[in-house]
Amino acid sequence: SPTTSHIAKQTMVAQAGFLPYSSVTPQTFLSKSIPFQQPMPLTSFSYTPDHIQEFNDSALRYFRPPPPNAHLGYGYERWVRRPEGRSRIDSLLRAVDRVTDGQRKKMNLEDVGVVAWRGVITRILTAPYEDREGWEMNVMLIKGTLYLEEHRSESLITEKNNIKPQHRKRMYYGYAFESYCTTDTDMPSYSKTASTRSNEPSHVAHVGDTLGWGGDVNTNIQWCSIVRTKLGDTRFIIGGEVDCSDGQYKGTTDTFVELKTSMSIRGAADEENFERKLLKFYFQSFLLGVPKIVVGFRTPSGQLTSTQSFQTMQIPRMVREKAENKRISTPWDPSLCLAWCHHFLAYLKRTLAACESDDIPNHQNPAEDPEEKVQHDYSPIPTQVWRVSFLPGE
Ligand code: A3P
Ligand code: MG
Ligand code: MG
Repeated sequence: SPTTSHIAKQTMVAQAGFLPYSSVTPQTFLSKSIPFQQPMPLTSFSYTPDHIQEFNDSALRYFRPPPPNAHLGYGYERWVRRPEGRSRIDSLLRAVDRVTDGQRKKMNLEDVGVVAWRGVITRILTAPYEDREGWEMNVMLIKGTLYLEEHRSESLITEKNNIKPQHRKRMYYGYAFESYCTTDTDMPSYSKTASTRSNEPSHVAHVGDTLGWGGDVNTNIQWCSIVRTKLGDTRFIIGGEVDCSDGQYKGTTDTFVELKTSMSIRGAADEENFERKLLKFYFQSFLLGVPKIVVGFRTPSGQLTSTQSFQTMQIPRMVREKAENKRISTPWDPSLCLAWCHHFLAYLKRTLAACESDDIPNHQNPAEDPEEKVQHDYSPIPTQVWRVSFLPGE
């Protein structure tokens, strides 16, 4: 089948602790179709400028079109960058507690199969097409619910905090685009159009003006939505950052907007690269029910050249049709990803349940190694943590 040609050649391998390798051939999932339920928000929270978690919507931002030709490097020196850390599940669990406990309970935890940040599920889903980056995951199984989080070693955290200046600047462009595209209050639509005064570069025209752009980027600030959804017969609680709402947020996902930057497309190779990237854009947004992705295309030096808006649910068809027109195989197939993810999580749960009932000594599990023991400051029940490694295909 032509669909398989872009799948990582070396099949995806996930190893749970000391367990034997489970070698999975993504081709096995090509014909399977696992339904995914439209996500429904359960709750939301904000991180303050000091990255304190608060159960309110103070960090929610609203969409507005960016000024044309905005300079995305503007304000770089003043960037307040949140340090890269452990990326643990604790703050998500605090939010989950609020919807599964007490009087305002919206869901029974016993019915939930998986709790995770959106980024972890995106990584699992896109694994069949990942041929570069490996990663590790901590897994806890508590009363039938899998809790998943990314595992970052000390050295990986150090590496992430000491990236090369050019890389750091490229990251800033992404955040600056978010800042140019959002305001902190929902404005009536008549004042929403971006304006630039003639003869002035856009970043000058917008400094401290009524549209609220001041070049201040603080990546501690985040607004997160927690949603419930279902993949096949497994219920999920997924949390993740939502960049902004287009209009007032009414507790549903339909106003959510994801903002992205990408290099301007100048030829066939660029286009192919972009379409591969759309796999991650697609699932990242899909998992939280974000219906729209606004991409800002930029020059290598951070000048915005154009913006394009994509309907999340149309992306797979768009990518497939483009490939068909060019008579090449489609670069990715989302149903394969969903079927693989469903299978992998069921395998993981079965395997860990079997291990825990056999009471296998902890020292065989890397996550319980005293040198690198995983600790959470917020865990409902003390439990065993398992380590799962994803190795990229070659
Ligand atoms: P771009 O994606 O526009 O480059 P998000 O898109 O998830 O809202 O993240 C906002 C920005 O954070 C990204 O902007 C990028 O600059 C940075 N970022 C997010 N995930 C990253 C990753 N895995 N590696 C490097 N930078 C990342
Ligand atoms: Mg974001
Ligand atoms: Mg974004």
